[in-house]
Amino acid sequence: MRMGMKLLTLLCLLLLRIGGSECRGKKHSRGADFLNVENYGAKGDDFLDVKNNNEKNGDFFNVMNYGAKGDGRTDDSKALMDTWKAACGFKGSVRYYIPPGNYIVGPLNFNGPCKGVTTMNFMIKGTLKASTDLSKYGPTDSWVMFGWLTGLKLTGYGTFDGQGAASWPLNNCPKNKNCKVLPASIKFVATDYTEVQAITSLNSKFFHIVLLDCKNFKATNLQITAPATSPNTDGIHIERSTDVSISNSKIGTGDDCISIGHGNTRVFINGVTCGPGHGISVGSLGRYPNEGDVMGLSVTGCVLTGTANGLRIKTWQDSPDTSVATNMTFENIVMYNVANPIIIDQNYCPYTYCTARAPSRVKISDVSFKNIRGTSATETAVTLHCSNGLPCQNVRLQDVQLNYYGPGKRAKATCMNVKASYSGTQIPPPC
Ligand SMILES: *[C@@H]1O[C@H](CO)[C@@H](O)[C@H](O)[C@H]1NC(C)=O
Repeated sequence: MRMGMKLLTLLCLLLLRIGGSECRGKKHSRGADFLNVENYGAKGDDFLDVKNNNEKNGDFFNVMNYGAKGDGRTDDSKALMDTWKAACGFKGSVRYYIPPGNYIVGPLNFNGPCKGVTTMNFMIKGTLKASTDLSKYGPTDSWVMFGWLTGLKLTGYGTFDGQGAASWPLNNCPKNKNCKVLPASIKFVATDYTEVQAITSLNSKFFHIVLLDCKNFKATNLQITAPATSPNTDGIHIERSTDVSISNSKIGTGDDCISIGHGNTRVFINGVTCGPGHGISVGSLGRYPNEGDVMGLSVTGCVLTGTANGLRIKTWQDSPDTSVATNMTFENIVMYNVANPIIIDQNYCPYTYCTARAPSRVKISDVSFKNIRGTSATETAVTLHCSNGLPCQNVRLQDVQLNYYGPGKRAKATCMNVKASYSGTQIPPPC
């Protein structure tokens, strides 16, 4: 008890220093979670709204109070889900807290709707480690899922460690079109007004982050890391989503840095560095029936280093349906030693047994590449290979300066089924 008082006094002093006056002469209920405020206050984190941070509001849900151990051995899945049930059932603005520690967990479904919750402040300071026992994951499971939520704020400088190394050798998707898919690390499904800030994703088993049917999604300060050789570890995959912004993030992984799948409207990518990996990619589009259009993409101020592609738009040959990809702008991009810096590929088919020769039925239009500089690891710095069934319309290149990285030879461009328009500097020279 005396110990508790001492800590409380300390905490009050801390709160006073930060500017709150709540401690003066007021009675506080206290529990283990109350003391965790210290972490936030001490780091000047405004996420938790320190002034309002006492338990009497009952809006603070610490996983430690629901039996989590965070000891790197115990399976904490149940504790985290029990905490979620309580938090999701609360009213108003809610705080879900994972303190520092290592939490071994299987699939977690942080699903709503949380009817009374206006803002779900989900703060993770610790490291979640994905169970390596694949039998724990159902066939369509991701690892950590946030679904059907409005007003989710995910932050805290914590880490989602997919512990993928053990399962990468089991992934045969690069060779087999109908492969069994491993769980993605973090998946957002049908969320509205989501903010993700200061989160690390490490060694995902499959994709790192997936957005599906999301609206008003903002992510910033993400760190996404996996080895260059890890299969299908796309950094962020966006599908059927509207008003998405990804900014100021660092993504080095084994597959696409960011991939923009079908059915997306207004996606903004700014200040992202990519590498290693396969670069920023629209697609692949046109693989399945009934795919949605891609309308409105802006990629600005990005740096790509040593990636297999830079800015790529890829659509499958022989697509079952028609769709549209339009209004896409790539501006102020720097590339270092990128193998295919600018590439439109409408004959995409990564499997050796693809034999279809039917053209892609995805119509690409209004694409502009502006101020794209740097070096190409191959001689072909610009590839514009459009569908012979639906030639690209209104493709513009302005101030493109991509020199071949190697000795002696000059960068070149190759074009099919496109009449691009050019202005400003053009290295390589136009086709
Ligand atoms: C084109 O895309 C940008 C960026 O996503 C968007 O802001 C703009 O409204 C779009 N323009 C049209 C005509 O759809």
